[in-house]
Amino acid sequence: MSSENSYFITTPIFYVNDVPHIGHAYTEVAADVLARWNRQNGKDAWMLTGTDEHGQKILRTSVANGVSPQEWADKLVTESWKPLLDTISIKNDDFIRTTEPRHETAVQKFLELLRDKGYIYSGEYEGYYCVGCEEYKQPGDLLEGGDDFPGEKVCAIHTRPIEILKESNYFFRMSDFQQQLLDLYESQPDFIQPESVRNEILSFVRRGLDDLSISRSSFDWGVKIPWDDSHVVYVWFEALLNYITASGWGADDESFEARWPAIHIVGKDIARFHAVIWPAMLMAAGITPPRRVFGHGWLLVGGEKMSKSKLTGIAPHQITDVFGADAFRYYFMRAINFGQDGSFSWEDLSARYQAELANGFGNLASRTVAMVSRYFDGVIPAATEMNEADTVIVDTVRDAFTQANAAIEKLAIHEAIASVWRIVDALNGYITEQEPWALAKDDANRDRLSTVLYTAVEGLRAITVGLSPIMPGATQKLWQALGAPEALGELEDQQMSRAGDWGQIPAGVTVSALDALFPRIEE
Ligand code: MSP
Repeated sequence: MSSENSYFITTPIFYVNDVPHIGHAYTEVAADVLARWNRQNGKDAWMLTGTDEHGQKILRTSVANGVSPQEWADKLVTESWKPLLDTISIKNDDFIRTTEPRHETAVQKFLELLRDKGYIYSGEYEGYYCVGCEEYKQPGDLLEGGDDFPGEKVCAIHTRPIEILKESNYFFRMSDFQQQLLDLYESQPDFIQPESVRNEILSFVRRGLDDLSISRSSFDWGVKIPWDDSHVVYVWFEALLNYITASGWGADDESFEARWPAIHIVGKDIARFHAVIWPAMLMAAGITPPRRVFGHGWLLVGGEKMSKSKLTGIAPHQITDVFGADAFRYYFMRAINFGQDGSFSWEDLSARYQAELANGFGNLASRTVAMVSRYFDGVIPAATEMNEADTVIVDTVRDAFTQANAAIEKLAIHEAIASVWRIVDALNGYITEQEPWALAKDDANRDRLSTVLYTAVEGLRAITVGLSPIMPGATQKLWQALGAPEALGELEDQQMSRAGDWGQIPAGVTVSALDALFPRIEE
């Protein structure tokens, strides 16, 4: 069984038919923030991401580009998908590609197991298929083609014609698992989040489940069905297995047992695969279902779901080239309630960068460090007697972390940031009211000035820790400038459960100059 301490978190594995856009980067950042935060809470956090490389969609793209699907996948993974992780400061522990032998071998093993248990049979499939979604469609999922495709049915998501499939396939007895799934949703109410996604899935499963066609014989870009190599495994059935093939199932059972079950962060459009098909597959194999499936909202651009196929796509580097990775991460995690849709606009990003990062946090950091340099030769002074204004800060810091830790527990990343930000706002107000520059004019106020600056520096210590999973770059610079590594150890080793305890940075530590954390952006 999974060790109590394991925190295994995943992103979907991304199709390599195209390059990444900010919707993909959004999922990556969310999973990375949760992994980093939990790692700083003493958890054995393990973040998995990767690429989904089989199926008809990739095959067709590669053919259109005149290369083999493997060449196409290799190119996209090396030139685009792996570099994305650096662009947005992702610290993943593993990256799985579905064309790797470790995956393919375990997929075949899983299929053999299900077949031995009697959950696979062969039959005829006749129905609709959308290659864009790589999904079998029900009539209710389709729209009329209208002027663009007169007389044809189109996929409601891709607004492109669907294909009619008639094949003999292997089927998975998914319909056997309806009751077990409903029991799972009931006994583990936070299994599917947020509530809106949970409700949708609940009513979907209550309507009854069909068996699932899990093989294709009209093309061969996939993992072969082990007992019939004229068929390849249906790409979704294969892709979902990445979560266990990457964590050692079937090869290193000890490490698998130690990590599993995982928390899956996915877009709400693919929550159904993760909360219905996937747990049913695992139940059939006798493996524990995932710990949670969280379906986040969509990034909207100009009111529409941002997507490459509709030309609203924005590449992550277009934003990080101007604003940097920290601002990218901060903006998407702060401005959008995790679980809801959110609109992206350059104006909003710019405004928040200026107001919250440059003027709010950045300015607090630079003026605090500068005042310690100016008034105390760079040596952090000791606090003497504390008055009520000071203890308000102490309380704010403590409460902020109580709330932030609780927010992360329920995956409410935006709430966690808002909690830490209360310290930023409180400290900015505190400094304005205490006027250290006025206190510095008279030696009689020296003790008071010491207390005020100690309070500011210690508050900043707490903010730096609290924001480190969100903005690893800027907080690392600030940690250095505060002289904290020597006094308190590495930033990434600071524990979130203790971060709200007052009085950690010792007096006597020397601060060093700090460049602007969020420089002015030229228009
Ligand atoms: N390959 C499958 C996932 C298999 S997981 C076993 C897939 N890949 S994808 O590349 O098309 O999409 C990956 C993720 O990106 C999905 O979670 C999807 O919701 C997310 N997004 C794609 N466009 C998005 C937005 N505009 N906004 C937010 N997330 C979006 O599906």
